Formats: sequence, C-alpha cells, structure tokens
Amino acid sequence: MNNFVYQNPTKLIFGKGQLDVLPKEVEKYGKKVLLVYGGGSIKRNGIYDNVLSKLAEIGAEVHELSGVEPNPRISTVREGVAICKKEGIEFVLAIGGGSTIDCTKAIAVGAKTDVDMWDVVTKKAKATGALPFGTVLTLAATGSEMNAGSVITNWEINEKHGWGSAYSFPKFSILDPEHTFSVPTNQTVYGIVDIMSHVLEHYFHQTTNTPIQDRFCESILLTVIETAPKLLEDLENYEHRETIMLAGTLALNNMLNMGYQGDWATHNLEHAVSAVHDIPHGGGLAILFPNWMKHVLDDENAARLKQLAVRVFDVDPSGKSEEEVALEGIESLRSFWKSIGAPSTLADYNIDESSVEIMAEKTVVARPEFGVFKKLDKQDSIKIFKASL
Ligand code: NZQ
Ligand code: ZN
Repeated sequence: MNNFVYQNPTKLIFGKGQLDVLPKEVEKYGKKVLLVYGGGSIKRNGIYDNVLSKLAEIGAEVHELSGVEPNPRISTVREGVAICKKEGIEFVLAIGGGSTIDCTKAIAVGAKTDVDMWDVVTKKAKATGALPFGTVLTLAATGSEMNAGSVITNWEINEKHGWGSAYSFPKFSILDPEHTFSVPTNQTVYGIVDIMSHVLEHYFHQTTNTPIQDRFCESILLTVIETAPKLLEDLENYEHRETIMLAGTLALNNMLNMGYQGDWATHNLEHAVSAVHDIPHGGGLAILFPNWMKHVLDDENAARLKQLAVRVFDVDPSGKSEEEVALEGIESLRSFWKSIGAPSTLADYNIDESSVEIMAEKTVVARPEFGVFKKLDKQDSIKIFKASL
C-alpha cells in the first residue's frame, strides 16, 4: 500500500423514514433553500411533496431549480449559481440521482466564486469555497452522495469532465431505499453496472499488498451479482433496494481504495462517449468495460484478471493458462451484464465507426495518457471503441 490519509465529512443518514430528520439537518445551515432536481420523477413518486412539507416545518424559504439533465450540463449549473447569488441562498438541497447531485456540487461551489464554473470543472481555476449542501438520494448508482466528485458536460463543445474539491462533499445525505422503488428497470440496471464498474475501477491497479481492499471489492461485486437479478424481479423489494443502495455508496466513497489509486480508464472512455452521444453512463460502461479488460490483458496484467475470474466469477483455473482463466472471467462479466439487460455494443445506441475518431480525441483532451493499471493513449481508445462497435 501507499501512505494515505482518509477523511470523509459527509453524514450518511440511511434507512426507512429518514427524511424525518431533514428539517433538523437543514436548519443548521439556514432557511433560504434552493431545491435542485431533475425532470420530474420526484413529483410523480411523491418525494417532492414530502420534502416540501418537511421544509415547511422550519418555515424555510424555498427556491427551485428543476430540469437537471441526466449528464448534467454547465448551462444548468450557471442557472443555479445565478439563483444562489440573486436570492442569497444559504443551503442547497439536491433531490435525485448522480446528475442532480453533481450539478448541485457545482452550483454550491459556483455560488462562492466569481470564476465561471467551467474553468473549475476543467481545472483552470480552483474551488475557493462552497455553500453548504445536502442530498436526498433517489437512485443508487454513482456514489456522489458520499464523495466530492462531480461530472459536468459542456454540450456546446461536447466535453464531459470530472472534477472535485475539498468543498464539494455533501454535509449530509439521506438514503431511504424506498425512495428508489420507482426507479424503472433500465435505470436500475444502469445503476447496478455503474456500481460494479466503480468497484472494478478500484480493483485494477499496480500497488502491491492490498489484500483487504481486494476482498472488500470482491465482496461488493459478489453481493451485487447475487442481489441484482432478485431486485430486477421485484423492484419494490425493500431489502434488495437497501443492499444495492449501500453497495452504491461504498463503491465510491473512497474506502475501497485506501492506500492505492485505481485505474479509471474505462470511465474516461465512457465520459468521451456520452459527451458526444449523451447516452446513459451505466449503459456506456457495460459496453466498454469488458473490452477494456481484453485490451489490457497481457502477461504482466493477467494475474489480477485471473484473480477476479476465480474469486468473483467462480472460474475453475485447473489446466488453464492465466490468460485463458482471465478471458473466461471477462466473458462471465459480459454474460452477467447481458443477463440483466445491459447493452453490449455501441450499435445498441446507434453509434457507428464514424464517431470513433472524435470520441477518441475526447479521451485525451485533458491529458495525453490515462489509466493506472495500464497507461493508454488515443490509439488505445480507438482500438477499444472499434472493438465495442
Ligand atoms: O430527472 P428525473 O426525472 O429525476 O429522472 C431520473 C433520470 O431520468 C431518473 N430517476 C432518478 N431517481 C428516480 C428516477 N426515476 C424514477 N424514480 C426515481 N426514484 O433516473 C434517470 C437518471 O438519473 P441520473 O441522476 O442521471 O443517474 P445517475 O445517478 O446514474 O447519474 C449519472 C451521472 O453521474 C455521473 C455520470 O457521468 C452521469 O453524468 N457520475 C458521477 C460520479 C460521481 N459524482 O462520483 C461518478 C460516476 O462514475 C459518474 O460518472
Ligand atoms: Zn460511474
């Protein structure tokens, strides 16, 4: 392991009925509240009304920014920043999935600077502070509820970048599994793929002696693989929603990667695809991850891919080369994702060879090389995208 410091200031409030604590938590920071939410799912499932009645208990002055897009856009962030500055907002409350939370992080930081937030997202400028903000999570996927990361798209120039800062941790996140009952099958599947992909991004690294971290990762993967088909049969099953929700938070609150840096090349590849084609993040990952694995499989990397195959996908290694075992594991991952209804080719989103070059270019906008398990460049991106068509 490498030396490390771990600090996570987000208060995690988990379980049935936990929305009851919302007034008490918000009141600590102020009464002028900006609610940030997406395209309206929270109005259909009743969460919006429940939140408003909770905020009424403390006489909060509520302002709203609705319509945050899946793959949230910098234009929406700017709208939110303008409301905060004009209205003197004291607290920002995200109600939704990763997109709404990521947008809220950028709004909260943007409210405390005169710099345009795209400069912060692209790391030309630094975050200097943030309005306090909290989240009510409605979709288990990104882990954004307990990390400082945020991913924002600039649709005018087709770029999508992750950024983060010490200021962009939520003060609290309320996770009631019942809030995810209404997530439809396709979004549930994308969430499951995203959660597994976060664990896999951690799992592929070059640091030695990480046995605890490896087993943590494997236990989350095994649990998600066991739970996902049962949940998809019964979308309102509290226990399965609860398991997946906790998995989502643990997969990306940086506890799994204590002492080492994971790979993250596949996320970079996926962000390039959705920057150009605006596809769901989890759908893109399901297509790309097995192809990234095949691309990086060589003599030096086979042992870790074999470990995944044996420990998570129960591949019998006897009489087989490391590479053969690794390949069986990759095929098992692909079959599992197909079995739960995830896409497997870019053609599933009508993406063809004509956009390979532009997507590959987007993977190296921020830096010429990426990935920790194996360094990749634009030529590697082209090969992986072509294998994914
Ligand atoms: O917009 P509404 O109407 O709310 O509908 C949303 C949206 O259409 C719907 N939904 C959410 N909760 C629901 C629900 N529908 C019914 N019932 C509910 N309870 O689901 C759709 C997708 O929501 P979104 O927030 O976009 O999904 P997700 O949580 O997967 O977030 C994806 C975004 O997060 C970024 C991705 O790149 C993408 O932009 N990521 C953020 C990360 C982070 N901050 O740490 C890490 C991830 O790797 C990821 O890159
Ligand atoms: Zn992700």
